[in-house]
Amino acid sequence: MCGIVGYVGKRPCRDLLIAGLEKLEYRGYDSAGIALLDDGHIETVRAVGNLANLRAAVGLDADGEGSVAVAAPPAQIGLAHTRWATHGQVTEENAHPHNDCTDTVHIVLNGIVENHSELRAELGAEGHHFSSETDAEIVAHLIERHYDGDFPAAVRAAFAEMRGHYAFVAMHAAHPDMLVAARQECPLVVGLGEGETFVASAIPAFLAHTRRVQYVANGEVITITPDGATFTDAAGAVVEREPEEVDWSEDEAEKGGYETFMLKEIHEQADAVAETITDRLPELDRVDLSELGLDPELPRRLRRIVIVACGTSYHAGLVGRYAIEQWARVPVEMDIASEFRYRNPVIGPEDLVIAITQSGETADTLAAMRLARERGATVMALTNVMGSQATREAHAVLFTRAGLEIGVAATKTFTSQVAAMYLLGLWLAHERGAFSPASVRHVIAELKALPHQIQVTIPAVNDRVREIAERVHRGRFFLYLGRNIGLPVCLEGALKMKEISYIPSDAYAAGEMKHGPIALLDSSTPVVCVATDSPVLDKILSNVAEVRARGADVIAVATEGNERVAEVADETIFVARTDWVLQPIVAILPLQLLAYHVARLLGLNVDQPRNLAKTVTVE
Ligand code: G6P
Repeated sequence: MCGIVGYVGKRPCRDLLIAGLEKLEYRGYDSAGIALLDDGHIETVRAVGNLANLRAAVGLDADGEGSVAVAAPPAQIGLAHTRWATHGQVTEENAHPHNDCTDTVHIVLNGIVENHSELRAELGAEGHHFSSETDAEIVAHLIERHYDGDFPAAVRAAFAEMRGHYAFVAMHAAHPDMLVAARQECPLVVGLGEGETFVASAIPAFLAHTRRVQYVANGEVITITPDGATFTDAAGAVVEREPEEVDWSEDEAEKGGYETFMLKEIHEQADAVAETITDRLPELDRVDLSELGLDPELPRRLRRIVIVACGTSYHAGLVGRYAIEQWARVPVEMDIASEFRYRNPVIGPEDLVIAITQSGETADTLAAMRLARERGATVMALTNVMGSQATREAHAVLFTRAGLEIGVAATKTFTSQVAAMYLLGLWLAHERGAFSPASVRHVIAELKALPHQIQVTIPAVNDRVREIAERVHRGRFFLYLGRNIGLPVCLEGALKMKEISYIPSDAYAAGEMKHGPIALLDSSTPVVCVATDSPVLDKILSNVAEVRARGADVIAVATEGNERVAEVADETIFVARTDWVLQPIVAILPLQLLAYHVARLLGLNVDQPRNLAKTVTVE
């Protein structure tokens, strides 16, 4: 996720802005930039890589050798940004800030402008020239289009033409004491100082200077001057906003007020899924994956799909397998990357190999991709990191847009991968003619609703899950049971439990339980059953009865409103209702939280569990 910092006040702000970006480094980024307004002129400096490169580029480092002698300290208004690439490669041109044709409007943006292609085409036809591949640059040109001396009015007019989820801050060379910002979904917060005002995507950016904050709400456009901020709705009507005092430590601020990064990332899942799906579903009846650049004939001529991955990514692949087979009717094989590469797989030019790896750097997954390529298969990478090795090894890349994940246990990258697999399944179903237009529209509507359902499910289940964790956290063994699309949810839930709580946990296909694992059950065993609505629900309910007959403690995850599950389980956690194929993306939420609360009750460090690394690059 990108970071924004803006300042207007009495102090020279270059170093203040870069220091603010440093406080946002934990969010992850691949390039950075700063724009400073002084004497009617805006100077912009951008650099690929870390902030040391930006510091060198603005001449801030000790000797400043090799740096460009620009942006000298006196500027008292400016913008800065760290970019996590989503549209356009990691290059200096694509780094923010971006400017209009006349070099008077400069902007920084977080998030995605969904209608960027149409706006770019319109603006291009009007004679605007673009210097980057980003959706963000459009905003500077839109403001230019509407500017007639009233800067906030121009920003409001630009804002009215944009769709998506984003936050941006704009600066105009003719307005040296004013920044104008707008928010649609992505966070934005004002920091009020004495004769100076900050605006940022997160509080740590200015916490060293002020603790008085005002939160920007969705749909608002704000004007920031050294004296404070004026909040207006999209139409320009003034909205009152009381300042609040934050009492967070710097550490708490980095975690957005959550006690750990993992909990913060669990709560970021609605946004991560929204970022991943929204602009790939531009209309109610179309999935746009043209970014893959694949041969349009590929979906029809495919013999089969092979998915390779490790860890949590493997579980996302398993969910994808069910969705692709269910919707697109292509056979899908699933393999653990470290097995695939050593089993001399039968693979060839009629196969599509999808490698799922959030980091794009897992050695076994990369080796599996190479092997598949050598044997003539088309290789697609599904990854969260632009420029990662997987993107270079693949013929096509589909990015998840979850932002940096700091907790070692994957959470938001998992749900984003699952969302991306749904997009792929739907696209294949459509391209292969396996789905009627009505089915495409139905699944798209359900997919678009997922961010909201994630958003409501987390707070709705959290307290109950914590209570359950209090009861079961001393358990010696957890068993997870599921069928069909619920099985990968169980595998992922059990993985979360073992990796952060160190409690032995196993996940089983519920129908297999009677062939062995049933011997493990007694009244001390918590058994987690994924029993969301699906064609196999009755089967699962019979398995629940078998488990209860052994005295085990059944914790069921069920679809909202299904009281049949509550009648047979000891505890039932209800998640939001979706199309049954999409239920895994909400069903995993209570299982992530269960592992989380159990580990916290045991006093463990969930962000950095023992023996585990975020990325495994050694073969
Ligand atoms: C490590 C991490 C897991 C992750 C796995 C695969 O083991 O601890 O959380 O699922 O690697 O990582 P990848 O980056 O390839 O998805």
